Amino acid sequence: MSQELFPRGQWKSRVGFILAASGSAIGLGNIVFFSANAYRFGGGAFYLPYLLALFVFGIPVMILEFGLGNFTGRAFPESLHRVAGRKGEFVGWWANLNAGFITMYYITILSWVIGMFFGAFGALWRESLPVPAFGMAEGELSNPYAYFFHMLSTWKPILFVAIVWIFNILIVRRGAETIESATKVFVPLMWIFMVILIIRGVTLDNGVQGVYLLFTPNFSVMKDPAVWQGAFAQTFFSLSLGFGIMTAYASYLPKKSDLTTNSVITSLLDSGFAYIAGLAVFSILFAFAIVPQASTLGMMFFIIPQGIGEMPQNSVTTFGVVFFALLLLAGLTSSVSLVEALVSSMRDKFGWSRKKTIAVASVIGFTGSAIFALPQVVNPGLEDNGTLGLTLLDLVDHWSFSYGLLIIGFCECILVGWVLGADKIRIHLNENSKIKLGLWFDILIKYIIPLALLLVLGYSVWGEVQNGIYGTAYGENYNEKFSFLRFAPRIVVVYWLVICSVVAFVLARRGSFAKAE
Ligand code: PHE
Repeated sequence: MSQELFPRGQWKSRVGFILAASGSAIGLGNIVFFSANAYRFGGGAFYLPYLLALFVFGIPVMILEFGLGNFTGRAFPESLHRVAGRKGEFVGWWANLNAGFITMYYITILSWVIGMFFGAFGALWRESLPVPAFGMAEGELSNPYAYFFHMLSTWKPILFVAIVWIFNILIVRRGAETIESATKVFVPLMWIFMVILIIRGVTLDNGVQGVYLLFTPNFSVMKDPAVWQGAFAQTFFSLSLGFGIMTAYASYLPKKSDLTTNSVITSLLDSGFAYIAGLAVFSILFAFAIVPQASTLGMMFFIIPQGIGEMPQNSVTTFGVVFFALLLLAGLTSSVSLVEALVSSMRDKFGWSRKKTIAVASVIGFTGSAIFALPQVVNPGLEDNGTLGLTLLDLVDHWSFSYGLLIIGFCECILVGWVLGADKIRIHLNENSKIKLGLWFDILIKYIIPLALLLVLGYSVWGEVQNGIYGTAYGENYNEKFSFLRFAPRIVVVYWLVICSVVAFVLARRGSFAKAE
């Protein structure tokens, strides 16, 4: 264990910090997952639960994560250690490991985005390639499906995974400093690309109809707990909460920062982006009467490209390229934050050099992302509207996303709210913030948020038990060649729960933290 002081780095400006934090928050979640969820839960029916989730949970937990990082000046595990000893540290590592899985598959998804980006220059709209993984000949499956599954059944995504990892390494190379420089270019560019897409979308014939659907509220669906669960999970994921990212990022801020206002600005930028992305997506799909009944990934790789493909001939390539470039930029600034959160936690603990930490994190991460990208790990049944359905990725996503984030959100509220005392964080936050938090903040953190998270989690577990914990449908759609995937659900649950817990336990039990500047 190195006893030398190691430099943790600092943001150069407040704007730089907000761009980086909003760059983390704005990602695939805003551009496609939000629209997919909004559609799934009945358009306008989604936005009230979503807005409520944003104000009652999202913003307060963001304030809490920022506060924690700035109060302690450390990333998640060490900051929770300072709050609650080794128990707290366990939660911090568990969050990091859970985030590690998400990093792996998030980067795999980005590798597919790279493939589609190249395709958008031409092939994606033209040829209908054969899909050897399904035994399908040329022309048997139409685009964009054929293009996508053709790509998935080659080794190309592994190459693209390497490219995404290299980008990540380059951007986190010097921590806050290089992240700030990259996000200063990427984030404004994302907004510009988004505006271009909206203008194209709403100027299509009938495009505006889609906008009505997004904004027409429907109160009757709100009795359905699934809507609420969807809104909560979406809020956490979209704001990058429950990963320790915001804590790591805020630990690079000077102590005298206005954290509350920064949290509010970051959250509003994030949800604002999701809404305007919704305008673009819904208008494009409605203009061509495409029903976006697909999983989130299906929306990104099939449904939206299908809409773009229907546009007037001279628009297709341009808007296809803009769409995938936008996804790539948004995804990169998000994945960078995931990698930085992990690197930051490891450096706090081990005091390793930045180079060494990045090397260790990226070798492990690359391996994981490559496993998700292995050719032919796809659902050959093409059920569920041709989505990837029951792949490993879907399964890991199910646990680390739908459960992991909410469990961590619950734990951090309990640790900060009860063990440290919500008032301590509130007092620290109020010292330098224009927006002053009242007692209501303590009440939210100590009672309301944990209780609501428990209810949502309880409801989800109940559903899980009713479907058979591993989901009865899993495995049935695979043909013989893939029948081993029957066991995937079990393996993934065990892996996610047991491995994360054991590793987090070991890390939290052992050693102390390195001293940082
Ligand atoms: N917030 C990102 C999105 O909306 C996803 C993400 C979550 C990225 C956590 C990094 C960390 O896509």
